[in-house]
Amino acid sequence: MSEQIYVGADHAGFQLKRKLVDELQRLGYEPVDVGPKALDPADDFPDYAKPVAEAVSLGVARRGVLTCGTGLGMAYVANRFARVRAAVAWSPEIAELARKHNDANVLVLPSRFVSEEEGMEILHRWLETGFEGGRHARRVAKIDHD
Ligand code: RB5
Repeated sequence: MSEQIYVGADHAGFQLKRKLVDELQRLGYEPVDVGPKALDPADDFPDYAKPVAEAVSLGVARRGVLTCGTGLGMAYVANRFARVRAAVAWSPEIAELARKHNDANVLVLPSRFVSEEEGMEILHRWLETGFEGGRHARRVAKIDHD
């Protein structure tokens, strides 16, 4: 069975989300698109960050992908959920380090600051990089306080 990856965006990330969903499908994953289904310039990022973060927090899915204009709002919301480590990544190198050192289980893309091509490269790097463990495991274990 293919891995489900939850995906969400707001209006600023709407176009990039389409590409992300298509790319995840092409790579053999099962993207679960929490919306929006249509472009609504008045929508609010927390409405889409929450279902993605909740799925990861509860272990319904191992990973999620979010995108909004800066990536910041999505990250603020997602990181309030226990066991969620959401990383804003604007380059493949940041995505790689977020996986190796922080075991980031939610990737957040700043749609207004990366091209679609860059977004795909960042997605690929995040998907294919493993957690290094070791000293980083000790640090990650100290993040959650409950
Ligand atoms: C929407 O205009 C923008 O504020 C949002 O996409 C995001 O950047 C918030 O953090």
